Amino acid sequence: MNHLAQKARRQGFEFTDQDFNRLRELVYQHTGIRMAENRRDLIYGRLSRRLRALNMHSFGDYCKLIENGHEDELEAFTNAVTTNLTAFFREAHHFDYLADTLLPELLKRKQANQRIRIWSAGCSTGEEPYTLAMILRESIPDIHNWDVRILATDLDSEVLAKATAGIYEQQNIQQILGERLKRWFHKGTGIHKGKAKVLPQLQELISFRKLNLMESWPMKGSFDIIFCRNVLIYFDKPTQKKLFDRFAGILNPKGHLFIGHSESPLDLTSHFTLIGQSIYQRSK
Ligand SMILES: C[S@@+](CC[C@H](N)C(=O)[O-])C[C@H]1O[C@@H](n2cnc3c(N)ncnc32)[C@H](O)[C@@H]1O
Repeated sequence: MNHLAQKARRQGFEFTDQDFNRLRELVYQHTGIRMAENRRDLIYGRLSRRLRALNMHSFGDYCKLIENGHEDELEAFTNAVTTNLTAFFREAHHFDYLADTLLPELLKRKQANQRIRIWSAGCSTGEEPYTLAMILRESIPDIHNWDVRILATDLDSEVLAKATAGIYEQQNIQQILGERLKRWFHKGTGIHKGKAKVLPQLQELISFRKLNLMESWPMKGSFDIIFCRNVLIYFDKPTQKKLFDRFAGILNPKGHLFIGHSESPLDLTSHFTLIGQSIYQRSK
Protein backbone atom coordinates (compact mmCIF):
# COMPACT_ATOMS: atom_id res chain seq x y z
CA MET A 1 0.00 0.00 0.00
CA ASN A 2 1.50 3.39 -0.94
CA HIS A 3 1.99 6.21 1.50
CA LEU A 4 -1.04 8.24 0.37
CA ALA A 5 -3.33 5.23 0.53
CA GLN A 6 -2.03 4.48 4.01
CA LYS A 7 -2.62 8.07 5.06
CA ALA A 8 -6.13 8.06 3.60
CA ARG A 9 -6.93 4.88 5.46
CA ARG A 10 -5.54 6.18 8.70
CA GLN A 11 -7.58 9.34 8.48
CA GLY A 12 -10.29 7.26 10.12
CA PHE A 13 -8.53 7.26 13.51
CA GLU A 14 -5.34 8.75 14.81
CA PHE A 15 -2.85 5.93 15.40
CA THR A 16 0.30 6.97 17.24
CA ASP A 17 3.48 5.00 18.03
CA GLN A 18 2.30 4.97 21.61
CA ASP A 19 -1.06 3.42 20.61
CA PHE A 20 0.71 0.81 18.52
CA ASN A 21 3.15 -0.12 21.29
CA ARG A 22 0.44 -0.22 23.92
CA LEU A 23 -1.67 -2.52 21.73
CA ARG A 24 1.31 -4.74 20.93
CA GLU A 25 1.93 -5.14 24.63
CA LEU A 26 -1.74 -6.02 25.25
CA VAL A 27 -1.66 -8.58 22.43
CA TYR A 28 1.43 -10.14 24.02
CA GLN A 29 -0.08 -10.18 27.51
CA HIS A 30 -3.31 -11.83 26.39
CA THR A 31 -2.18 -14.20 23.63
CA GLY A 32 1.61 -14.59 23.77
CA ILE A 33 1.73 -13.34 20.17
CA ARG A 34 4.67 -11.04 19.43
CA MET A 35 3.62 -8.40 16.92
CA ALA A 36 6.68 -7.18 15.01
CA GLU A 37 7.17 -3.54 14.03
CA ASN A 38 5.92 -4.33 10.50
CA ARG A 39 2.52 -5.43 11.87
CA ARG A 40 1.36 -1.85 12.29
CA ASP A 41 -1.05 -1.91 9.34
CA LEU A 42 -2.41 -5.25 10.42
CA ILE A 43 -3.13 -4.01 13.95
CA TYR A 44 -4.65 -0.80 12.66
CA GLY A 45 -6.83 -2.62 10.13
CA ARG A 46 -8.15 -5.25 12.49
CA LEU A 47 -8.68 -3.06 15.53
CA SER A 48 -10.13 -0.01 13.81
CA ARG A 49 -13.04 -2.33 12.98
CA ARG A 50 -13.49 -2.87 16.71
CA LEU A 51 -13.46 0.88 17.34
CA ARG A 52 -16.17 1.33 14.70
CA ALA A 53 -18.23 -1.51 16.14
CA LEU A 54 -18.04 0.09 19.59
CA ASN A 55 -18.58 3.59 18.25
CA MET A 56 -15.31 4.70 19.84
CA HIS A 57 -13.16 7.51 18.54
CA SER A 58 -9.67 6.83 19.81
CA PHE A 59 -7.27 3.96 20.19
CA GLY A 60 -6.36 5.37 23.61
CA ASP A 61 -9.92 4.77 24.84
CA TYR A 62 -9.90 1.32 23.29
CA CYS A 63 -6.65 0.43 25.10
CA LYS A 64 -8.21 1.53 28.39
CA LEU A 65 -11.15 -0.79 27.80
CA ILE A 66 -8.81 -3.75 27.27
CA GLU A 67 -6.55 -2.76 30.16
CA ASN A 68 -9.61 -2.67 32.42
CA GLY A 69 -10.33 -6.26 31.46
CA HIS A 70 -13.72 -5.72 29.74
CA GLU A 71 -14.60 -9.39 29.21
CA ASP A 72 -16.63 -9.28 25.98
CA GLU A 73 -14.22 -6.92 24.33
CA LEU A 74 -11.22 -8.98 25.44
CA GLU A 75 -12.70 -11.88 23.50
CA ALA A 76 -13.31 -9.73 20.41
CA PHE A 77 -9.80 -8.27 20.79
CA THR A 78 -8.05 -11.65 20.91
CA ASN A 79 -10.23 -12.94 18.05
CA ALA A 80 -9.22 -9.92 15.98
CA VAL A 81 -5.47 -10.30 16.43
CA THR A 82 -5.06 -14.03 15.73
CA THR A 83 -4.05 -15.32 12.31
CA ASN A 84 -6.10 -18.36 11.42
CA LEU A 85 -4.75 -19.57 8.10
CA THR A 86 -5.14 -23.34 7.82
CA ALA A 87 -6.07 -26.07 5.34
CA PHE A 88 -7.15 -29.69 5.13
CA PHE A 89 -4.11 -31.97 4.75
CA ARG A 90 -1.74 -29.04 5.32
CA GLU A 91 1.86 -30.35 5.39
CA ALA A 92 0.50 -33.64 4.05
CA HIS A 93 3.63 -35.63 4.96
CA HIS A 94 2.51 -35.45 8.62
CA PHE A 95 -0.68 -37.33 7.82
CA ASP A 96 1.21 -39.88 5.67
CA TYR A 97 3.53 -40.55 8.60
CA LEU A 98 0.58 -40.88 10.94
CA ALA A 99 -1.25 -43.34 8.68
CA ASP A 100 1.75 -45.39 7.47
CA THR A 101 4.05 -45.47 10.52
CA LEU A 102 2.74 -44.05 13.76
CA LEU A 103 -0.80 -45.42 13.92
CA PRO A 104 0.18 -49.01 13.00
CA GLU A 105 2.82 -48.84 15.76
CA LEU A 106 0.38 -47.33 18.30
CA LEU A 107 -2.29 -49.90 17.48
CA LYS A 108 0.17 -52.65 18.42
CA ARG A 109 1.56 -50.88 21.46
CA LYS A 110 -1.83 -49.93 22.89
CA GLN A 111 -3.62 -53.25 22.53
CA ALA A 112 -3.91 -53.51 26.32
CA ASN A 113 -6.08 -50.42 26.90
CA GLN A 114 -7.05 -49.56 23.29
CA ARG A 115 -6.97 -45.87 24.09
CA ILE A 116 -5.50 -43.10 21.91
CA ARG A 117 -5.52 -39.41 22.76
CA ILE A 118 -4.59 -36.67 20.29
CA TRP A 119 -4.48 -32.91 20.87
CA SER A 120 -4.76 -30.42 18.05
CA ALA A 121 -3.55 -27.26 19.81
CA GLY A 122 -4.35 -24.12 17.83
CA CYS A 123 -6.88 -25.92 15.63
CA SER A 124 -8.27 -22.76 13.99
CA THR A 125 -11.39 -23.47 11.86
CA GLY A 126 -11.10 -27.24 12.26
CA GLU A 127 -9.38 -28.43 9.09
CA GLU A 128 -6.50 -29.98 11.09
CA PRO A 129 -8.60 -32.03 13.57
CA TYR A 130 -11.01 -33.15 10.82
CA THR A 131 -8.04 -34.30 8.72
CA LEU A 132 -6.84 -36.24 11.77
CA ALA A 133 -10.31 -37.76 12.20
CA MET A 134 -10.36 -38.91 8.56
CA ILE A 135 -6.96 -40.58 8.97
CA LEU A 136 -8.04 -42.26 12.22
CA ARG A 137 -11.25 -43.64 10.72
CA GLU A 138 -9.45 -44.82 7.58
CA SER A 139 -6.55 -46.43 9.49
CA ILE A 140 -8.42 -48.12 12.35
CA PRO A 141 -11.03 -50.45 10.82
CA ASP A 142 -12.28 -51.59 14.24
CA ILE A 143 -12.27 -48.08 15.71
CA HIS A 144 -15.58 -48.84 17.48
CA ASN A 145 -13.58 -51.13 19.80
CA TRP A 146 -11.13 -48.35 20.57
CA ASP A 147 -11.37 -45.33 22.83
CA VAL A 148 -10.03 -42.69 20.43
CA ARG A 149 -10.49 -38.96 21.01
CA ILE A 150 -9.17 -35.77 19.52
CA LEU A 151 -9.14 -32.65 21.68
CA ALA A 152 -9.14 -29.57 19.42
CA THR A 153 -8.49 -26.21 21.07
CA ASP A 154 -8.01 -22.61 20.10
CA LEU A 155 -8.03 -19.23 21.78
CA ASP A 156 -10.28 -17.69 19.12
CA SER A 157 -13.99 -18.28 19.80
CA GLU A 158 -15.03 -17.37 16.23
CA VAL A 159 -12.87 -19.97 14.54
CA LEU A 160 -14.00 -22.53 17.10
CA ALA A 161 -17.66 -21.87 16.24
CA LYS A 162 -16.85 -22.45 12.58
CA ALA A 163 -14.89 -25.60 13.43
CA THR A 164 -17.75 -26.97 15.51
CA ALA A 165 -20.26 -26.33 12.69
CA GLY A 166 -17.97 -28.21 10.26
CA ILE A 167 -19.32 -26.47 7.14
CA TYR A 168 -16.76 -25.51 4.50
CA GLU A 169 -16.76 -23.51 1.28
CA GLN A 170 -15.72 -24.94 -2.07
CA GLN A 171 -12.27 -23.31 -1.93
CA ASN A 172 -11.56 -24.96 1.48
CA ILE A 173 -12.26 -28.49 0.31
CA GLN A 174 -10.34 -28.42 -2.95
CA GLN A 175 -7.29 -30.14 -1.45
CA ILE A 176 -9.35 -33.18 -0.46
CA LEU A 177 -9.30 -36.11 -2.89
CA GLY A 178 -12.68 -36.77 -4.56
CA GLU A 179 -13.01 -40.18 -2.96
CA ARG A 180 -12.45 -38.80 0.53
CA LEU A 181 -14.78 -35.92 -0.08
CA LYS A 182 -17.54 -38.35 -0.98
CA ARG A 183 -16.82 -40.54 2.00
CA TRP A 184 -16.57 -37.93 4.75
CA PHE A 185 -18.62 -34.92 3.63
CA HIS A 186 -22.22 -34.20 2.89
CA LYS A 187 -22.65 -31.92 -0.14
CA GLY A 188 -24.85 -28.88 0.40
CA THR A 189 -27.92 -28.28 -1.72
CA GLY A 190 -30.21 -25.29 -2.25
CA ILE A 191 -28.77 -22.25 -0.47
CA HIS A 192 -25.86 -24.42 0.72
CA LYS A 193 -24.90 -25.47 -2.81
CA GLY A 194 -21.11 -25.46 -3.24
CA LYS A 195 -20.56 -26.02 0.50
CA ALA A 196 -19.86 -29.29 2.27
CA LYS A 197 -20.47 -30.44 5.84
CA VAL A 198 -18.32 -33.03 7.61
CA LEU A 199 -20.16 -36.17 8.58
CA PRO A 200 -21.03 -36.88 12.24
CA GLN A 201 -18.65 -39.90 12.17
CA LEU A 202 -15.77 -37.41 12.10
CA GLN A 203 -17.34 -34.87 14.43
CA GLU A 204 -18.02 -37.41 17.14
CA LEU A 205 -14.28 -38.13 17.52
CA ILE A 206 -13.51 -34.49 18.31
CA SER A 207 -14.14 -32.21 21.30
CA PHE A 208 -13.69 -28.54 20.43
CA ARG A 209 -12.78 -26.33 23.41
CA LYS A 210 -11.60 -22.80 23.98
CA LEU A 211 -8.13 -22.81 25.49
CA ASN A 212 -5.44 -20.15 25.71
CA LEU A 213 -2.06 -21.88 25.57
CA MET A 214 -0.63 -19.15 27.83
CA GLU A 215 -2.94 -20.13 30.69
CA SER A 216 -3.27 -23.31 32.75
CA TRP A 217 -4.46 -26.40 30.89
CA PRO A 218 -7.47 -28.14 32.46
CA MET A 219 -6.87 -31.55 30.81
CA LYS A 220 -6.44 -34.39 33.30
CA GLY A 221 -4.95 -37.16 31.18
CA SER A 222 -1.93 -37.23 28.92
CA PHE A 223 -1.66 -37.45 25.13
CA ASP A 224 -0.08 -39.86 22.67
CA ILE A 225 0.18 -37.23 19.96
CA ILE A 226 0.15 -33.45 19.90
CA PHE A 227 -0.28 -31.40 16.74
CA CYS A 228 0.68 -27.78 17.40
CA ARG A 229 1.53 -26.52 13.96
CA ASN A 230 2.04 -22.94 12.83
CA VAL A 231 1.14 -21.57 16.24
CA LEU A 232 4.49 -21.25 18.07
CA ILE A 233 5.89 -19.24 15.19
CA TYR A 234 3.94 -16.24 16.53
CA PHE A 235 5.56 -16.49 19.98
CA ASP A 236 8.99 -15.37 21.17
CA LYS A 237 11.68 -17.91 22.10
CA PRO A 238 11.14 -17.90 25.91
CA THR A 239 7.40 -18.52 25.34
CA GLN A 240 8.17 -21.27 22.81
CA LYS A 241 10.54 -22.92 25.28
CA LYS A 242 7.92 -22.86 28.03
CA LEU A 243 5.35 -24.42 25.71
CA PHE A 244 7.70 -27.13 24.41
CA ASP A 245 8.45 -28.07 28.04
CA ARG A 246 4.74 -28.11 28.87
CA PHE A 247 4.00 -30.25 25.81
CA ALA A 248 6.67 -32.71 26.96
CA GLY A 249 5.00 -32.79 30.38
CA ILE A 250 1.57 -33.65 29.00
CA LEU A 251 2.77 -36.19 26.41
CA ASN A 252 3.10 -39.87 27.28
CA PRO A 253 6.69 -41.14 27.38
CA LYS A 254 7.64 -41.61 23.71
CA GLY A 255 4.65 -39.46 22.66
CA HIS A 256 4.86 -37.54 19.40
CA LEU A 257 4.83 -33.82 18.68
CA PHE A 258 4.05 -32.49 15.20
CA ILE A 259 4.93 -28.85 14.57
CA GLY A 260 5.12 -26.45 11.62
CA HIS A 261 8.09 -26.63 9.26
CA SER A 262 9.54 -23.33 10.49
CA GLU A 263 9.35 -24.25 14.20
CA SER A 264 11.82 -26.33 16.23
CA PRO A 265 12.32 -27.29 19.89
CA LEU A 266 15.91 -28.43 19.37
CA ASP A 267 17.75 -25.27 20.50
CA LEU A 268 15.26 -24.62 23.28
CA THR A 269 14.78 -27.84 25.19
CA SER A 270 16.27 -31.32 25.47
CA HIS A 271 12.91 -33.08 25.83
CA PHE A 272 12.51 -33.98 22.16
CA THR A 273 14.30 -35.96 19.46
CA LEU A 274 13.72 -35.26 15.79
CA ILE A 275 12.40 -38.38 14.09
CA GLY A 276 10.95 -37.07 10.82
CA GLN A 277 10.20 -33.88 8.91
CA SER A 278 9.06 -31.56 11.75
CA ILE A 279 8.03 -34.63 13.77
CA TYR A 280 9.47 -35.06 17.27
CA GLN A 281 9.32 -37.74 19.93
CA ARG A 282 9.47 -37.13 23.63
CA SER A 283 12.82 -38.49 24.77
CA LYS A 284 12.71 -37.57 28.46
C1 LIG B 1 -2.09 -20.20 11.72
S1 LIG B 1 -3.28 -21.01 12.69
C2 LIG B 1 -2.73 -22.68 12.59
C3 LIG B 1 -3.85 -23.66 12.42
C4 LIG B 1 -3.44 -25.12 12.24
N1 LIG B 1 -2.75 -25.61 13.41
C5 LIG B 1 -2.62 -25.32 11.01
O1 LIG B 1 -1.41 -25.49 11.09
O2 LIG B 1 -3.18 -25.28 9.91
C6 LIG B 1 -2.78 -20.52 14.35
C7 LIG B 1 -3.89 -20.69 15.38
O3 LIG B 1 -3.32 -20.53 16.68
C8 LIG B 1 -4.26 -19.86 17.49
N2 LIG B 1 -3.58 -19.22 18.64
C9 LIG B 1 -2.79 -18.13 18.65
N3 LIG B 1 -2.41 -17.83 19.89
C10 LIG B 1 -2.97 -18.75 20.69
C11 LIG B 1 -2.96 -18.98 22.10
N4 LIG B 1 -2.27 -18.18 22.95
N5 LIG B 1 -3.65 -20.03 22.60
C12 LIG B 1 -4.34 -20.84 21.77
N6 LIG B 1 -4.41 -20.68 20.43
C13 LIG B 1 -3.73 -19.65 19.89
C14 LIG B 1 -4.91 -18.86 16.55
O4 LIG B 1 -6.17 -18.43 17.02
C15 LIG B 1 -4.97 -19.63 15.24
O5 LIG B 1 -6.23 -20.21 15.04
